Amino acid sequence: MIKNWNYLDDYQHDRRLILEIVDRVFSSGRLILGPEVAAFEAKFAAYCGVAHGVGVNSCTDALFLALKALGIGPGDEVITTANTAVPTVAAVRAAGALPVFVDVEEDTFLIDPSQIEPAITARTKCVLPVHLFGQVADMEPLLRTAARHGLKVVEDCAQAAGALYGGKKAGSFGDIGAFSFYPTKVLGGYGDGGMAITNSDAWRDKLRRLRFYGMKTDYYAEEEGYNSRLDEIQAALLLHKIESLDASVRKRQDIARHYTEELTGVGDIAVPVVRNGRTHQFYTYTIRTKHRDDLMRFLRDHEIECRINYPTPVHLMRGYGFLNYKAGRLPVTERLAGEILSLPLYPGLAPEDAGKVARCAKLFFADHSS
Ligand SMILES: Cc1ncc(COP(=O)(O)O)c(C=O)c1O
Repeated sequence: MIKNWNYLDDYQHDRRLILEIVDRVFSSGRLILGPEVAAFEAKFAAYCGVAHGVGVNSCTDALFLALKALGIGPGDEVITTANTAVPTVAAVRAAGALPVFVDVEEDTFLIDPSQIEPAITARTKCVLPVHLFGQVADMEPLLRTAARHGLKVVEDCAQAAGALYGGKKAGSFGDIGAFSFYPTKVLGGYGDGGMAITNSDAWRDKLRRLRFYGMKTDYYAEEEGYNSRLDEIQAALLLHKIESLDASVRKRQDIARHYTEELTGVGDIAVPVVRNGRTHQFYTYTIRTKHRDDLMRFLRDHEIECRINYPTPVHLMRGYGFLNYKAGRLPVTERLAGEILSLPLYPGLAPEDAGKVARCAKLFFADHSS
């Protein structure tokens, strides 16, 4: 079976070094929030072109704590999109705020900046763009709208570490950027992990307190806080992995280029659109076709595993029924959910396997006119 992702490739390749790192950290006598975390925070923040990083337990927590740090909570509205991973919305709810969903651009799947202004109310406090699949949303108009209305901006960069927009990195545009180091991610660890990045000293300090029971020094809470710490072991492994991040993204981009060359003009496939002035990290390679379900079945029959990111937009999930969104409210988002398909893509995917995926997709469309 050609998989969508396989971390064991990475582990086998790097096993000796990984075990050395594990041994070094285990022998150091420090397991949580120590020198490895501090070094990785500094390294990742510099990589993103911002002043500070605060390591936390996950991107969900980075988003939640970012909103808390910015003073967003009950009674406040946060404008975001519904074609995202559930955690984007879970984080808004954890902060006690109300997610307000707007529609996305038909070709990039990213928040449509022109939809933001009409959604602003007296309660709106924040815009939360999701840099879905590895491409940064259209930040220039978004930031202009946010500035005009005095709104905070928190970027969900879970899928887009290192992605460029106008030469600047994902997460460096808004007030706070949130990242995931979940194993499948572009920069993935060997367990859960996340980071909030910011240029503000004040928000860095606040985020540090919030992740550690509201404490600056042991056993004294300055404010109400939480437990969302990053392990030394994950930080040490991520410090190692960040060295090859750009090279591993280039491998993703090479596979994506191959898919795009092979699949452009095949049947009714729409290949991913990368806007001028941006790079795409290809966390996923997500195509669109009206024959999605049949194509997926056909590929599965040929031992090729695909994914749908995501089959149900969050506003139509039972768990978020209380938000009272009806089908039809976000027409582009809802249409996309029935037509998108992510083909296998990860840095270790063998070229012959990528070749087989493209060949099989073509074979399918030889029998299905668009
Ligand atoms: C767009 C998006 N936001 C947030 C998250 C949450 O990341 P984590 O699993 O690190 O909490 C994910 C990962 O699933 C994601 O894809």
